[in-house]
Amino acid sequence: MKHPRVWFVTGASKGLGLALTQKLLAAGCLVAATSRNLDALVTAVGTRETDRFLPLHVNLAHEREVEAAITAVIAKFGHIDVVVNNAGYGLQGTFESLTDQEIRDHFDINVFSIMNVLRHAIPHFRKARQGHVFNMSSIGGFTGGYTGWGSYSATKFAVTGLTEALAAEMKPFGVSATVVYPGAFRTSFLTEQSLAVSPNPIPAYTEAQASIDRYLDMSGKQQGDPAKAAEVLMQVASTSTPPLHLFLGPDAYKAAHEKIKHVLHDLDSNKHLTLSTSF
Ligand SMILES: NC(=O)c1ccc[n+]([C@@H]2O[C@H](COP(=O)([O-])OP(=O)(O)OC[C@H]3O[C@@H](n4cnc5c(N)ncnc54)[C@H](OP(=O)(O)O)[C@@H]3O)[C@@H](O)[C@H]2O)c1
Repeated sequence: MKHPRVWFVTGASKGLGLALTQKLLAAGCLVAATSRNLDALVTAVGTRETDRFLPLHVNLAHEREVEAAITAVIAKFGHIDVVVNNAGYGLQGTFESLTDQEIRDHFDINVFSIMNVLRHAIPHFRKARQGHVFNMSSIGGFTGGYTGWGSYSATKFAVTGLTEALAAEMKPFGVSATVVYPGAFRTSFLTEQSLAVSPNPIPAYTEAQASIDRYLDMSGKQQGDPAKAAEVLMQVASTSTPPLHLFLGPDAYKAAHEKIKHVLHDLDSNKHLTLSTSF
């Protein structure tokens, strides 16, 4: 009989991470899931530690805590098959209003926490010559023109870039990576509890403020179903050739096509300039 696969999911007390953890457990997988709040995690999942579930209290920005978490997963389950770097949050504010600290904190969670997990998880993948990594970007990490979301886009473009490099680096070891670009999904993402908003908006940025208000208004009405996103990730993880790029939701599909069209337009309409720079 094939052994159940071992998944490691970050940011699992709500939203996409929670939906995935629940689906995986229901499907008989072995799941290690992290949260900043262990009580919230076990309450949301509906179970404390079992022989198939390892809830972990982890501050993902602290490398030693991440290392200890990966060690605990290996100690309990013996190996890891799939890593899902899911934890992340939105930060709204124009570049002029966001502070250096706000943006650094944002990169700490959305980008550097992923690097922390990879640094300690992929040695196991490399030695086992198998494994799959999902890194949660966003459609805002593929098409970046959303006013008031500049820091978020910057973090998610970083996730996209690091995943492309990771996929290339790990390919010789039989390890694959997928960057996931969700559109709007109905999670806690846009709630006051999850979304950080600059406390010092600059009134002159009327368009950015209108965009921020529109997004806040969308909370609870997003078209994307986290349970269905979880099913797609599980399906992709079970294929022998998972895609490098995975878009989730009709809004993401449409926005990605528009971005590609614009890039192609700029590429071709400036071809004479682009090709004019060689010695
Ligand atoms: N929902 C959307 O429309 C959407 C669209 C595009 C991309 N995404 C991305 O999808 C991922 C999951 O988001 P979601 O929609 O499920 O949002 P969510 O319901 O707010 O859940 C986000 C998860 O990330 C973790 N997290 C949030 N802020 C954190 C912080 N400061 N430090 C550590 N962990 C933190 C939380 O983990 P704990 O509280 O358990 O520690 C939480 O479980 C994120 O990376 C997000 O950027 C979401």
